[in-house]
Amino acid sequence: MILTTGGAGFIGSNFVLDWFTASDESMVNLDKLTYAGNMENLAGLRDQPKHIFVKGDIGDVGLVRRLLEQHKPRAVVNFAAESHVDRSIHGPGEFIQTNIVGTFHLLEAVREYWNGLPEQDKAAFRFLHVSTDEVYGSLGKDDPAFRETNRYEPNSPYSASKAASDHLVRAYHHTYGLPVLTTNCSNNYGPYHFPEKLIPLCIQNALGGKPLPIYGDGQQIRDWLYVKDHCSAIRRVLEAGTVGEVYNVGGWNEKANLEVVGTLCDILDDLSPRADGQSYRTQITFVTDRPGHDRRYAIDATRLERELGWKPAETFETGIRKTVRWYLDNQAWAHNVTSGAYREWVGKQYGA
Ligand code: NAD
Ligand code: DAU
Repeated sequence: MILTTGGAGFIGSNFVLDWFTASDESMVNLDKLTYAGNMENLAGLRDQPKHIFVKGDIGDVGLVRRLLEQHKPRAVVNFAAESHVDRSIHGPGEFIQTNIVGTFHLLEAVREYWNGLPEQDKAAFRFLHVSTDEVYGSLGKDDPAFRETNRYEPNSPYSASKAASDHLVRAYHHTYGLPVLTTNCSNNYGPYHFPEKLIPLCIQNALGGKPLPIYGDGQQIRDWLYVKDHCSAIRRVLEAGTVGEVYNVGGWNEKANLEVVGTLCDILDDLSPRADGQSYRTQITFVTDRPGHDRRYAIDATRLERELGWKPAETFETGIRKTVRWYLDNQAWAHNVTSGAYREWVGKQYGA
């Protein structure tokens, strides 16, 4: 069996759901259920006895120790994190606590467990740490895409905390021999994406007749990957990745934010036209820029493709259409996650 952390969040829940369609191996899913963790994402697994959900913190060494001893996983996949850049600007404390201190405690519990395993299990064990392309900083217009050898130059409290966690994971391999793998992925999109992030926020705002807030000039570039492709990459790295190595994961889909939001509007105009016959594009509104906003991210995923034979299944065009369709078909989910606490966040971030 494997132990997954953060498996009730956006990427984690997609990974957990896909796991049970691709494998019959059991999984313990440890998640603190912060505002971003949602049991509704896992509703499809209610009758799956091989999915064992535990509400708890990766920083709770006693709990993690007990789970490891009881279930004896062959691998730990660490998704748990505070993940929203804007929230890290308003309040970095939680990011330091979970992403750095939490990862440290998790590593300590895992190291102790791993040390006690019989030699064969010890050799087969893996700790896979899910990280981000944001640790590499911001690219200029003509710079080559991020490779695994790029310098770490994080610019936000979020990316700095993820960078610190990556360094801890690396150090636990070099110092203690813990068999780790790290993946650094570009921007994900797809089902169960919490509507604080650009794509789901704009879909929900469009349907609700609200402004579609574009930070600054909207020419910041992100490299978009359909979440199911990220999940297949993680499964592949877990299965065949070289211990101690880092793999960049990306979809070769660089797009400016304004273009992404324009595409969303066009798909919505087609699938769910406004009653007044106008385009959703009329709702696009330029707002104050994010402080320290990184201009461009781009991932060079050559290593993962060449060494492990992974390729994304979706293009941006197919993935974004599926995503919009998913939100249209799952409005009840979207309304349930945009509760009181969510509205408080929107008020704080976007004001009137
Ligand atoms: P998310 O915010 O949607 O979900 C995070 C999950 O972790 C939630 O279920 C939350 O309850 C849980 N969690 C938070 N703190 C915890 C703690 N202390 N103990 C246990 N559980 C805790 O995040 P996401 O977008 O699914 O991202 C998952 C991982 O992938 C993160 O590590 C993130 O840095 C990384 N990542 C995300 C993206 C992206 O585009 N979303 C891209 C690259 C990497
Ligand atoms: O690159 C990987 C990262 O992608 C992950 O590590 C993070 O966890 C994930 O949240 C994401 O970070 P971004 O900051 O790139 O994602 P976000 O959806 O918040 O913003 C995408 C771009 O859109 C970014 O340039 C900021 C801009 N934006 C965002 C919001 C929420 C807007 O213009 N308006 C908005 O309202």
